[in-house]
Formats: sequence, structure tokens, C-alpha cells
Amino acid sequence: MADLSLDFCGIRSPNPFWLASGPPTNSGDQVARAFEAGWGGAVWKTIGEPIVNVSSRYGGLDLGTARMAGFNNVELITDRPMEVNFREITEVKKRFPDRAVIASLMVESKRAAWHDVVARSQDAGADGIELNFGCPHGMSERGMGAAVGQVPEYCGRITGWAKERAKIPVIVKLTPNVTDIVRPARAAAAAGADALSLINTVNSLIGVDLDTLAPLPTVRGQGSHGGYCGPAVKPIALHMVSTVCGDREIRVPVSAIGGIATWRDAAEFIALGAASLQVCTAVMHHGFRIVEDMIDGLSAYLDEKGLTLASLRGKAAKNVRRWEELDLNYRVVAAIDHRRCIGCQLCYVACNDGAHQAIGLRPWAELGIEGPAPASMTGAGVPVIIEDACVGCNLCSLVCPVPGCIRMEDRSGTADRKSFLDYQAAGETPRAAGQRQRKTGEG
Ligand SMILES: Cc1cc2nc3c(=O)[nH]c(=O)nc-3n(C[C@H](O)[C@H](O)[C@H](O)COP(=O)(O)O)c2cc1C
Repeated sequence: MADLSLDFCGIRSPNPFWLASGPPTNSGDQVARAFEAGWGGAVWKTIGEPIVNVSSRYGGLDLGTARMAGFNNVELITDRPMEVNFREITEVKKRFPDRAVIASLMVESKRAAWHDVVARSQDAGADGIELNFGCPHGMSERGMGAAVGQVPEYCGRITGWAKERAKIPVIVKLTPNVTDIVRPARAAAAAGADALSLINTVNSLIGVDLDTLAPLPTVRGQGSHGGYCGPAVKPIALHMVSTVCGDREIRVPVSAIGGIATWRDAAEFIALGAASLQVCTAVMHHGFRIVEDMIDGLSAYLDEKGLTLASLRGKAAKNVRRWEELDLNYRVVAAIDHRRCIGCQLCYVACNDGAHQAIGLRPWAELGIEGPAPASMTGAGVPVIIEDACVGCNLCSLVCPVPGCIRMEDRSGTADRKSFLDYQAAGETPRAAGQRQRKTGEG
């Protein structure tokens, strides 16, 4: 099994899988159970002056049968007293000396308040601290959380205050609710942050109850914007992590957060440059046990590819380019495996109405495939690709419900495809050309 142990800006952990600050790290009992299950580290639920939380506070976005594909919350930082949290950090760290215990902190934007809470974290035995500059609701209105993370100057100033007192590594957690993630990231790094973590949650309003007209989640008929996370935000997180890791001025390691639920998600973030991973929503959904599959899957992948954790890190980064650097001579065309096709015609409809009119319908008998048509095809027109019109956009392969039925094939070097303008110049549309080709058997 590949060695997954990690030294993250001086914080050691047996594997790169940490719990992100949130409900799963709200108490010593939970963190201890997570460590028993195999988690390498835990970022404590953000500690600060205790506040009162609302009820209810979570909302989910279901997609078909997939529950909580997106997750939204209006929860604030911990509502447990500081001394209880620090005492439990000491107890957990004593019981699990080989795991990473990070104190997540958020206090008012005053130097003395930050000095105090940093000192208390290290006295409690935390391995590091994470400055929560990311909470998008509730705390930001009080000048904390995202209100700091959105202003690079404040980010730098408070990081500096924490560094004045910290003898343990300082991680700065960034908010995604900015136009350019590089600016706060650079400000934190320039002020001495030992590492960065991202992303915190994305500003969102997850829905409206159409009977009561109350926003969701609902607090006595009313609601407020909250923070979005879970699988739905992974692409946003991948982009931001990749941008920060690829920035030439930022030299500190990055802990990736946002929609990580499987070892594959983890491997993607590492390949883009992340050094450690943090998970919140997936644990809220499936429990601490998911870490077993994450550890086994990542180890097996590294072994299979002959890689180590360190050599995988950033390996995909060189392939992330500016749009204008992409190869305009590369051409792919869709190819349908008609033996797998179930005749649902979704690809045809999607391409015809929503994309480039590059799929036509033909009778099975005209395809020249040996044997009778599958039952699902009888009577139905069979989708065929009109290669001339296909721009290689992927849409048909994305809507196709049958895995492997539509593949994109490399046709670079073949004659240039026709653009809509070419068709127009020839006095017909791609759709008309397709119909003509179907009639005459061309294409
Ligand atoms: C209910 C809930 C509470 C959270 N509380 C905190 C918090 O106290 N401090 C913090 O830094 N992040 C908090 N987060 C954000 C997570 O740490 C994480 O950045 C975010 O959820 C994205 O990761 P995920 O997609 O794995 O959930 C919270 C997230 C959720 C869902």
C-alpha cells in the first residue's frame, strides 16, 4: 500500500484526509470517533465568542434520486464555549498524538482578540490554527468571516496579527465569494501564512417553499442567504485550488476543500496541486466511515500508476492552460455504438434543439449492421452522427443514459468540419444537409 503520510507545512498526519471545520468536528467525542475510523486530521468547528444558532439551518438540492447533490447552511460558528472546545482539543490530541488537530478560529477584527485566541489554541496543544476568513453569512455582517476574506488588505492584516503570536503553523481559509481568488491568497501568503485552505461555502439561496413562499431553510417562515457546498461546488473548488496552486507568487501548500466525497475527488485535487484534503458535507451525508474507501482507493491508484503522494501532486497542473493556448487543430467527432443504443433519441433531441444539428435519425435497416434491431429500436429512428456538422461538443455523450454508448473519437487531421456559416454559404442548414444525406445515403 502506498505511503499516504504527510507533512503539511510542518503538521504531520498519517494520511491527507482531514475533516473540514463544521458539524462533524463540533465536539471531542466526534473527532475521536473520526480518528478511530481513520481520518488523518480534523479542523475543529470554528471557535470564537459563542453565538446562538437558528433552527432550522440546512437545505439540500436533490437531483433525481441523488439526495444532497448540493447542500446549503445558515449555521454560524460553534455555539459551545471556548474553554470547552480547548479542553476537548487537549484531550483528543493526548489520545491521538499522531493525528493533526487544527483549531479553526474566528474572533472580532482586533489584534488583542486574535493574539488571545491564538495563544489559547497553542496552549491547548493544537498542531496548527486555521483562520476562518470565509463564512459567508451571519459572521460577515459583524465584520468577520467573508467580510475579511473579501478584502485582501484585511486578510493580510489579520494573518499578520495571528503570526505575531503563533508558534504553530497558521493556515488561512479563503472564501470563494470573490472575483479573483488570487488577491486574498497572495495577501495572506505575503503576510506570512504557512498554508492556505479553500474553499469555504459559496453564497446561495437554495430554494423557496411554493406553498408557504418561505425561503429554504426556513426560520419561522423567513430565510436568509447561506453557504453552498457538497458535490455541486467541486468544479468551483477545483478551479480555485488550481488557480492558487498555479500562481507564481504563492509558495505555500494548499489544503483543498469543496465537494470531496471519494478518493477520485481527492486525487483530482492533488493532481492539480493540493497537498491535503478536507471533507465536510460527504461526512454529514454518509458518516466517518467513508474515509476507509478514500484511503484504500487513493493508495491503490498510486500503486497502480507507480506514483507517490508527492509525485502525483501538481502532475495535472501543466495541462491547465489559458483558452488561447488550446490546439484549434484538435478535432473530435461523436461515434455511437448502435449495439448499446436504447433508441431513446435524447442525443438527437439535445443536438437538434440545443446544439449543432449533427445527429439525424435513420431506420435500423439502413445502418448496415448485421442482425435484427434490438427490441428498443423497432420502429424508432436510430440516431446517426452527421460527421460534417459535428463540432465535437460532447453534448450527446453527456446526455446519453447508457455508459460507453457514445464516444468522442479523435479525427484531427481529417478535412476541416463545416461551420454553420459554411452551410449557410452553400444555401442550406446543417439540419437540411443531414436530411439530404440521410435520403441519399451520404455522410
Ligand atoms: C453546516 C456547515 C457548517 C460549517 N461550519 C463551518 C465553520 O464553522 N467553519 C468553517 O471554516 N467552515 C465551515 N463550513 C464549511 C466547510 O468547512 C467547507 O469549507 C465547505 O462545506 C466545503 O466543503 P464540503 O463541500 O466538503 O462540505 C461549514 C459547512 C457546513 C455544511
